[in-house]
Amino acid sequence: MFVAIKDLCEHVGQTVTLRGWLYHRRDSGKIAFLVLRDGTGLCQCVVPKSPQTQGFFEQARRLGQETTLKVTGVVRANEKQIGGHELDVTALEVVGESSDYPITPKPHGIDFLMRHRHLHFRSRRQWSILRVRHSVVDEIRQYYNRNGFTLIDTPIFAPAAGEGAQTLFQVDYFGEPVYLAQTGQLYVETACMAFGKVYCFGPTFRAEKSKTRRHLTEFWMVEPEVAFADLDEVVDLAEDFVCAIVARVLRDHREDLAFLGRDVADLEAIQKPFHRLTYSQAAEMLRGPKARALLERDLADKKARVEELGRLMSEKESQAGGQGVKQWKRDKLAAEVAAHREERTDLEEVIRNIPHHAELAANFQWGKDLGGSDETIISRLHDRPVFVTHYPRDVKAFYMKKNEQDERLVNNFDLLAPQGYGEIIGGSQREDDYDVLSERINALGLDRKDYEWYLDLRRYGSVPHGGFGLGVERTVAWLCGLKHIRETIPFPRMMGRFYP
Ligand code: 4AD
Repeated sequence: MFVAIKDLCEHVGQTVTLRGWLYHRRDSGKIAFLVLRDGTGLCQCVVPKSPQTQGFFEQARRLGQETTLKVTGVVRANEKQIGGHELDVTALEVVGESSDYPITPKPHGIDFLMRHRHLHFRSRRQWSILRVRHSVVDEIRQYYNRNGFTLIDTPIFAPAAGEGAQTLFQVDYFGEPVYLAQTGQLYVETACMAFGKVYCFGPTFRAEKSKTRRHLTEFWMVEPEVAFADLDEVVDLAEDFVCAIVARVLRDHREDLAFLGRDVADLEAIQKPFHRLTYSQAAEMLRGPKARALLERDLADKKARVEELGRLMSEKESQAGGQGVKQWKRDKLAAEVAAHREERTDLEEVIRNIPHHAELAANFQWGKDLGGSDETIISRLHDRPVFVTHYPRDVKAFYMKKNEQDERLVNNFDLLAPQGYGEIIGGSQREDDYDVLSERINALGLDRKDYEWYLDLRRYGSVPHGGFGLGVERTVAWLCGLKHIRETIPFPRMMGRFYP
């Protein structure tokens, strides 16, 4: 009987067959231990040298990493083993050979791993991250479906910019230029006038020319849009939605989060109400003593950690070079040293940047958009997500609703995730007044003919409305506690990276 590893608990004492790939192998000469991975979990399969295993014991000892196998045996509960069960093997069949698998337990640099991304996501860490992504995507769909939103698929080929001309990817469309969609928003706005509450969910494209830990050129975004909603209603929706995603990940992924080293207490603290600040209050905060103290403490902590890493690395290097150290132990130490080295390189860069970020914050001028480092500071000064609302009109998109009390502002918000993760949502109330929107399109020098259809929404039954966009990858990076966004999507696309 073929059984999935995740279901082994229902088969203790029975003979079953597992199908999967050899994740790891070691042997003591008398027993071979084969850790099998089947996509649902990992299970250690035990092959003792005995008359019963005579036919395949030697073969088991020589199997290459990632060989595909069918392994038959008796299920035994063992709390101490990965997954809580072991298989006492009675038969073994090789389905697909594998030798010299390129990703070994030895350390590999991130570039190497990304070039082998097609194999990389067989690893335990990637498996956990992409499972969390799966649940985030599933919860997004379920959340909107159960709350009365209609899914509207928006086009990928767009005639004009939705979010600023600097990040457009141009495509030749039978001799005419069109652009890969930066957002589906303008289209879901049309749909909300037909269905009331709608959302689109798909890939979006931005020609981001900088390599940062927060930017991809292709990312997934969900964009709800609600007719008759003002800014407060849209903010409340975003808050409820983010709580639902966090609750789902905590419900289904505690083991994955633990494996990734994510402190779940930080996620358990994500409860309503989130903090709400205006842009002007955020600007004050950046210039104030709390931000300065945070960065000073940060600099001291990071320098101390760099020293500690230096100490750990030399200890482990001399341990690995000692006599009689087994090869597996050497590999383990080498992997740890490589991880420490990577962390040190990252920290050294952070240390170099802190004075610059401190200066940017201290001299923050009202009217500028918040930069990545500004968002990091604000988000680190809060234990829960923070809504920053009412930005200066001049730094925001043309479609945002002008604030009635202060014409310099728009009714918009960004949601910053805590612990320095920064913006995961951008949203706003939309300009529903024909004259104001039309004047804005002209003032910004946008080509009016591209937006006539969009202006029609303000000609025929205009209504206050608003929505937002949540980036899946930034959300997954935050939930999993990852430093970089590149591991949150199966095949990341960034400047200089589009293989495989
Ligand atoms: O703030 P943004 O640009 O908002 C919009 O696109 C609006 N049209 C959304 C709307 O109101 N319907 O982007 C929204 C979110 C960001 O908060 C971020 O999570 C993600 O999209 N995002 C990116 N994620 C990865 N790489 C990039 N280059 C991203 N740019 C934006």
